Amino acid sequence: MEIQTKNLPNEQEEEEVYFGESFFVNDSYEMRTFTYGSHVLRLQCLQSASTDYDLTGQLVWPGAELLNHHISQCSDFLTGCSIIELGSGVGVTGLLCSRFCRQLVLTDHNEIVLKVLKQNIDLQLSSGISTCAEITSEKLEWGNHDQLSEILKRFPEGFDLIIGADICFQQCSIPLLFETVEQLLRFGDKSGKFILAYVSRAKSIDAMVANEAKKHGLQMHEVAGSRTLVAGGSCEGVIFEFILN
Ligand SMILES: C[S@@+](CC[C@H](N)C(=O)[O-])C[C@H]1O[C@@H](n2cnc3c(N)ncnc32)[C@H](O)[C@@H]1O
Repeated sequence: MEIQTKNLPNEQEEEEVYFGESFFVNDSYEMRTFTYGSHVLRLQCLQSASTDYDLTGQLVWPGAELLNHHISQCSDFLTGCSIIELGSGVGVTGLLCSRFCRQLVLTDHNEIVLKVLKQNIDLQLSSGISTCAEITSEKLEWGNHDQLSEILKRFPEGFDLIIGADICFQQCSIPLLFETVEQLLRFGDKSGKFILAYVSRAKSIDAMVANEAKKHGLQMHEVAGSRTLVAGGSCEGVIFEFILN
C-alpha cells in the first residue's frame, strides 16, 4: 500500500494521509472475446468498474454492444470513412469500425482508460486481422478546446463520422459532449454525422440529450429498427444520428 503523509503549513501537528492511486485502481484486465456477426474482437477489459475515478471505460457497456451489432449487420456506411470516437473506453466499437473505415482516432479523457485502450489497439494491430491504414488514440476531454485543436491540427481534413457508445450517463458532461460534437461537425466540409448509441437510464437525461442537440444546431434522427432492450432487458437502447441543421 502506498501511503504518504504531509505536514500542513499551519504549524499544527496535523497530518493528511494520501493513498496512492494504485490502492484504488484495478487494472488486472482479463482477455475477453466479443463476437458481432462474423467479426471477433479480443480485448483486455474488466467485468466491473469503479465510478470513483471515472473508470467506467474499463469495461464494455450495453450501448457498445448495441452499436456493434448494428455495425455487424450494415457496415457499408463506414467504408472509406475517417472516424473519431468519443469516450472510447476499451475501444470495442472503434476497433470494430477499424475493420471497415480508412482512418480512426479513438479518444477518452481518463489516463488509466487510455492505457488499456492503447494495449487493445496494439493487440488488434498484431492480430493480423486487416484494419484501416491508421489507428491512433488521443486524450480528449469534452469541452477541452486545447486538446480538440491539437487533434484537428493533426487531422486537418476533419472527420466524416463521430461515434459514441453509451457516453450519456452523467448530466454534467452532456452539454460539453455536444459542444465538442458541434465543433467537430463544423470543422471540415460540414457534411459529417454524429452516431450515438444511447441507453436510456433517466428521463431527465433523455430530455437533456434532445435539448443539447437542438441548442447546438443539430437535427436528431432515430435509426430505424435500432430501438431495443439492452443490459439483460433492464433498459432501452437506441441509435441516434445527428447532423448540422
Ligand atoms: C460508460 S463508458 C462507455 C465506454 C465505451 N464507449 C463502451 O460503450 O464500452 C463512458 C466513457 O466515456 C469516457 N468519458 C466520460 N466522461 C468524459 C468526458 N467528460 N470527456 C471524455 N471522455 C469521457 C469515460 O472515460 C468512459 O470511457
